[in-house]
Amino acid sequence: MSHDPVETNYRSNARPFAAILEQRLSRRNILASLPTASSAGVLAGFGLVGCSNSSDSNTSTAARPAAMSFTSVAKSTANNVQVPTGYSARVLYAKGDPINNNVPEYANDGSDMDFEQRAGDEHDGMYYFGLSDSGLPDNTASTRGLLCMNHENLEDTELHPNGPTAAADNGGSRPEAEVRKEMNAHGVSIVEVVDDGNGFRVNRSSGFNRRITAFTEMDIRGPVRGDTALVTPFSNGTETRGTLNNCANGFTPWGTYLTCEENWFGYWNRGDDETVRNSSDNELLAAYGIGAGSRGFANREWDTVNGEAFARFDVTAAADGNGNTDWRNEQNNFGYVVEIDPFDPQSRPQKRTALGRFAHEGCWIGPVTAGEPLVFYMGDDSRNEYIYKFVSDAKWNPEDATGGLEIGDKYMDSGKLYAARFNADGSGDWLHITFGTATDTATGSDYVISSLADALLGTRIVADRLGATPMDRPEWAAVDPITGETYMTLTNSSSGSSGRGQGGSGSEEADAANPRSYVDGGGNRNGHIIRWRETTGNASTTFMWDIYLFGADSDIDDDGAATDTDNINISRLTDSNDFSSPDGLYFDSRGILWIQTDDGAFNETNDQLLAALPGTVGDGVPKAVTSATNDGGSTTVMTFAGQDASDNNLRRFLVGPQGCEITGITFTPDHKTLFVNVQHPSSPASGAWPALSGVATDDGDAGRGRSATVVITRDDGGEIAL
Ligand code: FEO
Ligand code: CA
Ligand code: CA
Repeated sequence: MSHDPVETNYRSNARPFAAILEQRLSRRNILASLPTASSAGVLAGFGLVGCSNSSDSNTSTAARPAAMSFTSVAKSTANNVQVPTGYSARVLYAKGDPINNNVPEYANDGSDMDFEQRAGDEHDGMYYFGLSDSGLPDNTASTRGLLCMNHENLEDTELHPNGPTAAADNGGSRPEAEVRKEMNAHGVSIVEVVDDGNGFRVNRSSGFNRRITAFTEMDIRGPVRGDTALVTPFSNGTETRGTLNNCANGFTPWGTYLTCEENWFGYWNRGDDETVRNSSDNELLAAYGIGAGSRGFANREWDTVNGEAFARFDVTAAADGNGNTDWRNEQNNFGYVVEIDPFDPQSRPQKRTALGRFAHEGCWIGPVTAGEPLVFYMGDDSRNEYIYKFVSDAKWNPEDATGGLEIGDKYMDSGKLYAARFNADGSGDWLHITFGTATDTATGSDYVISSLADALLGTRIVADRLGATPMDRPEWAAVDPITGETYMTLTNSSSGSSGRGQGGSGSEEADAANPRSYVDGGGNRNGHIIRWRETTGNASTTFMWDIYLFGADSDIDDDGAATDTDNINISRLTDSNDFSSPDGLYFDSRGILWIQTDDGAFNETNDQLLAALPGTVGDGVPKAVTSATNDGGSTTVMTFAGQDASDNNLRRFLVGPQGCEITGITFTPDHKTLFVNVQHPSSPASGAWPALSGVATDDGDAGRGRSATVVITRDDGGEIAL
């Protein structure tokens, strides 16, 4: 077994093992002294890490607030962050910022190296874990915490002085230093943040600070661990290196962070044609968009660098080879939910295969109740993909409320995975993804399922065979702490009616749960938010659903004519709350729902963050929606629309700078500090955001646009939004 030297180097920056051990022991001692919680309500009151850290997934007896106190922010195309009057926004942690004192400040001219010691690129999903004064997990701590965040992807041009050097321009091999930088700018950041009375800053001296990258060693856990389909020259299928394209996230009630591998399938060079692999393997690769004889869309020729840490990105199956001699199986080590213990910098991330393999957007826990199984909700963000849930075999024991990755083994390595079917009558079914059933085989499909590992590796294929409902690109979920109902964004679908992926153009068939198709030629341009209520709790196999909210431009429809409120602006959005392409979604523990956008269709405004006071499944009316079809005719489907939006129940809170998407949202437990990520702002010649001064609301200075975490507070020190 070989190990990459980068891994070894960066670990040398971590704290001595003895200090870690001491901290872990202290944490467990604290646990032992906890009162025994017998209900979710008691857990929510814990002074230590629990699931109520801020996006409280416990149902609560509290009522949702009746109103929000801020005035809606106007739409904006300015190159800065707009927040409501009486609020301030400041850049906390931007791409390239040092996480320790070993590397200099970021020059932001492409010259900076050492990204394993700097903030990665393209900040995305994020979570705040409170830390006590003595450095222990504390979910009441609002002035000291660990901020965990994903670095989804790269702005390739800005990362290098003059953009990336192609292999063809460098003797057939990408420069190793460039590739190391790109791989290290992926992954996850864990940084300690402290509010010393003058607002939060990153504590660069903290022993908790850590970068997880495309080099970091990880364990494969759950039913796929050790499967022959994961065998590589590096491992027998029990460990791997790196996590890629980490989009959204989640947290557990035992105090760990979940990071989710989304567009991981684009990174490979697959040089073999379909004659080398068998038909089952070919079908598995095709279901995940890894075509024969091609490089993926996110391929950066990493495989052209000498050394097996790079060669592994060439997954070509050699005619005379096998999994031990070539990297044909490397891609099967990706596509999972990955669990990280932010409180233990020496711990190895754990890939939790029981939660399925697909373009994981994120992983959000549902209501946590003693004696009941846990549930996690997930979306597969590609067109015509599915919504999933995982139900643990183990019943929740509040004594597990901290404890790190071993507790993850208990709740996340065995359970039942389901895909959602949304029925036209407003009911829904959770369809079990497993083996030993009729879905082991299917007419016209060669993928062979003879174990649970096979079923999980080919999650998408099993969901196809089960008849799950293809959705308009599932993104984030959020579980309502007041009602226990789950909301999920369906960002848009301007894509073809068949096949998988996020791009393309063409028609999209409408159905009850994806009822709009109104882009020229078909498609749901502005997206919507679906929600559901389990019939009988977490383990339920049936649910009721409706559509909470439809994105729309409030004053023009697709043709530029007066808005079509019957078929497009169904939620009756207005100038103060219209939005398009919902993506990030987050319930704070007070019951306010936060909606973030990643839009390419709504050119009246940059991307935004809205705050909402939602109702409940069934609070609206049955609704007939008519869509144009490709042949010039029309089609009408029945759906269930939630109550209309109003200025009281939906309001714009923030608008970001040019070219960005707004994503990654988390609060301190006192709701006085809000952290939001600005991803991939553009770099206009007139000045890139953020200003080098670190002030988020200034227009840009010279330099290159940088993804960044923005910290938002109220000038009078009060709670955000109320
Ligand atoms: Fe990374 Fe689905 O957004
Ligand atoms: Ca997203
Ligand atoms: Ca997105």
